[in-house]
Amino acid sequence: MAELVLTQAPAHVRHGSNIGQPLTRRDGILKVTGGARYAADNHPAGMAYAVMAVSSIARGRLVSLDVEAAKTQPGVIAVMTPWNAPRLAADPDGKDIPFSFKLDVLQSDVVRYPNQPIAVVIAETLEAATEAAELLSPRYEAEPARVGLDADEAFVPPIVGPGKPATVQHGDLEAGLASSSRRIEATYETPAQYHNAMETHAVVARWEGDTLSLDLPSQALALTQLRLAQLFGIPPENIHIRSPFLGGGFGSKAGVSGPQVLGIMAARLVGRPVKLALRREQMFGPVGHRAPTRQTLRLGADENGTLTAIQHHTRTTSSSFDDFFEPASDASHTLYASPAIATSHDVVRIDTGTPLFMRAPGEATGSIALESAIDEMAEACGMDPLAFRLKNYAEAEPISGRPFSSKALRECYEQGAERFGWSRRPLAPRQMRDEAGLLVGWGVGTATFPALMFQAQARAAIRADGTGLMETGAHDMGQGAWTALAQIAADGLGLDIDQVEFRAGTSDLPDAGIAGGSGHTATAGMALHSAGADVIAKLAQLATSDERSPLFGGGNAGVIARAGRLHRRDDESRSESYADILARAGLAEIEGRGSASADPSSQESYAMHAHGAVFAEVKVDPELGQIRASRIVGAFAAGRIINPRLARSQLYGGMIWGLSFALHEHAVTDRRSGRIMNANLGEYHVPVNADVPPIEAILVHEDDPHVNALGIKGVGEIGITGSAGAVANAVWHATGVRVRDFPITLDRLL
Ligand code: MOS
Repeated sequence: MAELVLTQAPAHVRHGSNIGQPLTRRDGILKVTGGARYAADNHPAGMAYAVMAVSSIARGRLVSLDVEAAKTQPGVIAVMTPWNAPRLAADPDGKDIPFSFKLDVLQSDVVRYPNQPIAVVIAETLEAATEAAELLSPRYEAEPARVGLDADEAFVPPIVGPGKPATVQHGDLEAGLASSSRRIEATYETPAQYHNAMETHAVVARWEGDTLSLDLPSQALALTQLRLAQLFGIPPENIHIRSPFLGGGFGSKAGVSGPQVLGIMAARLVGRPVKLALRREQMFGPVGHRAPTRQTLRLGADENGTLTAIQHHTRTTSSSFDDFFEPASDASHTLYASPAIATSHDVVRIDTGTPLFMRAPGEATGSIALESAIDEMAEACGMDPLAFRLKNYAEAEPISGRPFSSKALRECYEQGAERFGWSRRPLAPRQMRDEAGLLVGWGVGTATFPALMFQAQARAAIRADGTGLMETGAHDMGQGAWTALAQIAADGLGLDIDQVEFRAGTSDLPDAGIAGGSGHTATAGMALHSAGADVIAKLAQLATSDERSPLFGGGNAGVIARAGRLHRRDDESRSESYADILARAGLAEIEGRGSASADPSSQESYAMHAHGAVFAEVKVDPELGQIRASRIVGAFAAGRIINPRLARSQLYGGMIWGLSFALHEHAVTDRRSGRIMNANLGEYHVPVNADVPPIEAILVHEDDPHVNALGIKGVGEIGITGSAGAVANAVWHATGVRVRDFPITLDRLL
């Protein structure tokens, strides 16, 4: 093939016509008019309804169910129990597929946590199934529930998070503490939080022989397909999953969940299509959660306010039967420079569903403690908390010593502070009141999240009429992936976005990897980019080797793809349309393929992160202790921004979750039964519109030449990380009270 500069051209030469535009969501009208069909909106002919019954005990054995009583309910088709459920082809406790967790799918009578599925009723109507499930009167042999961070002896886990060491030491901690002139030690607790996407987990399952057709919301279509193939003993290509829209996921839809597997088993049992959708309270158990933590931080600083030591220990919980360990201490690996950093974790097993990745797993939990401790250290040094951060933030990754692949954090601090008006902040707490007499406080937090890439493939085509097609099995959790990825796809083809058909959201398309780790735009986007480059290179090959083309002989100089035409790079007046090139070659379509993954050599040389700084204002009623956030400004550097409207929207969502972490969210466990007492959206508080103040997200310009050829990082998770600490620190500044037990509620201020 002729050497084509095109395929290696730096992004700024070819890109910009679609990338960078603040387009609205291409599926927005569908969504706001109810036209977007979510999994549970599907009703294939003959579909039956499945409803789960769940355990009311935390540990023990299911002894009996009154199946006969349930069957007296008119419309009941079958009751699936541990005693008659279809056996699976593979152990549901198997974990050989990446990111898979053990599933409770009626293969035994053992109860391992509250809200574990214990039966499924299948009926002609949802009402009949729901009513019948109430008639099952389960009897148990119950054992006492193990609850809380001190329920049992703690152990040091082999790994934390997706595979990091539980204990890391850098430098000499004791020497760092000994050389400090100011020290703080503080312990913070964060509660369990539950993924509560608007769309609960659901499945509509249809079997035809050994072929399985599914409507199932998924953040990882290919991995889900693989796991289901294993569980049901059929080839992956027999499983067709449609997941065009997700009503949120936050990590809990990254792997297939037990309840979704139960829906598929139910369809097999009754020989009809079956729908199973979780009720809200059933979200609190079998589909993951953010584990609670108790974090102890010891910091030392010298008389100039320079950190000399950071020690961060996390105690967390996991389930009695599976391994996920919230890597909260790892937040201290990235943010602040210190000659000595020691992080550690230990874990207590309790009777809970297994915790899971939940939006900024580790970073969110750890950073609220670290950012609070940094504030306490600044106070101990008599320094403004922003000045302290400007003095101590890391310019290279402290643990590995690798330089950051870009250095925009200072910009984030400066632009955010300027916009917020931080320079007017009094140093001491309890100094500001508004006109109504409410105490006002200002806080700052540093945000960070790794810039990850997974593996993905894409397919591109240019058709006879000059329009394009791009395909990858990407996932849109609501963040706007259909739109941002289509923008990348269109630029990759040198076409306007309206001339490109963009297909995503089904397992029959090339694997787009995982919509997680804030890496989906970078990963699926780079696969699309490379598929575009491949098809354009093939088209250019056709043209430059055809003496009837005005591009003939242009191979050595290279060509540029723009607006549906190829142009000679050395003489842009010589060009030809895609349609003409294909017509002369007698082709109906020309196809290209692309793939993407992280570049190991850049990863070895650089630490890759998005950065940010968040500034929050809160108002506190001095008599009642009521806390309201009144203003939040975040400034984020996250590489090339594909769509500023959607990126801001993602950042707002993260910042609102940070606010929620600081002031609202808390799953409360009954110490006697081990059950979650507020397993509903009435009592499990998430911020509603009235809780959310005006929020600004400044997109700080950043060219990161190392993360990938397009310079894309992620914006999905970083917004939580600085915001939670900023709000907590603002509460201290308003009141002078340091609350270390989250969420901060009014009773703790009185
Ligand atoms: Mo996220 S917790 O990587 O979906």
